[in-house]
Amino acid sequence: MVRCAKVKREDAEKERKRLAEAGALDNMHIPMRGRGYVYFPLVKGAKITLPVVQKRLARRSERPKTLRDALAGKLTARESEEMVTSFDLVGDIAVVEVPDALRAKEKLIAKALMGAHHNVKVVAKKVGGTSGEFRIRPVEVIAGEKRTRTVYREGGCEFELDLNEAYFSPRLGTERGRLCAQVKPQEKVIVPFAGVGPFAIRMGKAAADAEVVGVELNPEACAFFRRNVERNKCGNVRVLEGDVAKLLPGKYAGWADRAAMPLPKDAKQFLANVIPCLKKGGILHYYSFGSMEEPFAGAEKDVQEASARLGRKARIVFRRVVRPYSKDTEQVAVDAEIL
Ligand SMILES: C[S@@+](CC[C@H](N)C(=O)[O-])C[C@H]1O[C@@H](n2cnc3c(N)ncnc32)[C@H](O)[C@@H]1O
Repeated sequence: MVRCAKVKREDAEKERKRLAEAGALDNMHIPMRGRGYVYFPLVKGAKITLPVVQKRLARRSERPKTLRDALAGKLTARESEEMVTSFDLVGDIAVVEVPDALRAKEKLIAKALMGAHHNVKVVAKKVGGTSGEFRIRPVEVIAGEKRTRTVYREGGCEFELDLNEAYFSPRLGTERGRLCAQVKPQEKVIVPFAGVGPFAIRMGKAAADAEVVGVELNPEACAFFRRNVERNKCGNVRVLEGDVAKLLPGKYAGWADRAAMPLPKDAKQFLANVIPCLKKGGILHYYSFGSMEEPFAGAEKDVQEASARLGRKARIVFRRVVRPYSKDTEQVAVDAEIL
């Protein structure tokens, strides 16, 4: 039998929050509904003003299912509101955002996360935004093994990476899958801004007799890219280390059936280097940021204007919001046939 607070059903949510805030709520048992009442289990010695009764309650399974469950009773209701309970899982590293107000509790949060997700071996917190030419988003390990290197699996491929040495986002997986579905046999594909190779390698795998060239400036990212090409046995993917603006012009003029530009910030300035690489009728996958009201307008204008300056025409064939980016901007993808 468990000591429980007896609460009228209409007051249940309000009282649950008050009990949690007071640290009186026992999270090892599941609250029970009765006729017109809800019975909340209490921790030992909890002193409350609500009526108390004894009830036979079911125990929660030992392992909480979500981070929110894992944190129940450990954070006050206000702290829970502040905590972003979603996190990115990159291989066995969980990347979390810990608000400043919760810094003192970050270890507790990280341990709760590892308790809820046994595949997580490292918890790292973001310590800055994506920045610099290499677009790295720095993280700091707050629990688990002391490393920021891992292997991420997606679409039957494996990518070795270090979060503090190269850009990587698991949130672009759907986009990578969308592009893979379009690659045709024997196509020639260019991926400027290739990072550790997720777009290039997945497209190379999608059509084994396609030829893919990935261009990347960051030497650390290139080292992982080369290793990932070997790891995934992609003999048809070539790694070019250096600046897109220097490596592509001339050599690849009119070479590609398809080009993907996964550099949403500042990609516009490289359109003059990438569009000439496309054959007549080639497809450009262009990424950019747009406002919530008119997400695609800027991206379409960039592609149309750059094509016109190069004496080419762009026909927009597809547009999609990839993901929300900030309070009022979204990352978008625009595909154009370049004529
Ligand atoms: C947003 S990341 C995308 C990486 C990768 N495509 C992915 O999705 O994981 C952009 C990448 O472009 C690279 N980059 C930036 N400027 C470049 C340039 N001028 N030439 C080649 N690569 C560049 C950065 O180092 C970074 O790895």
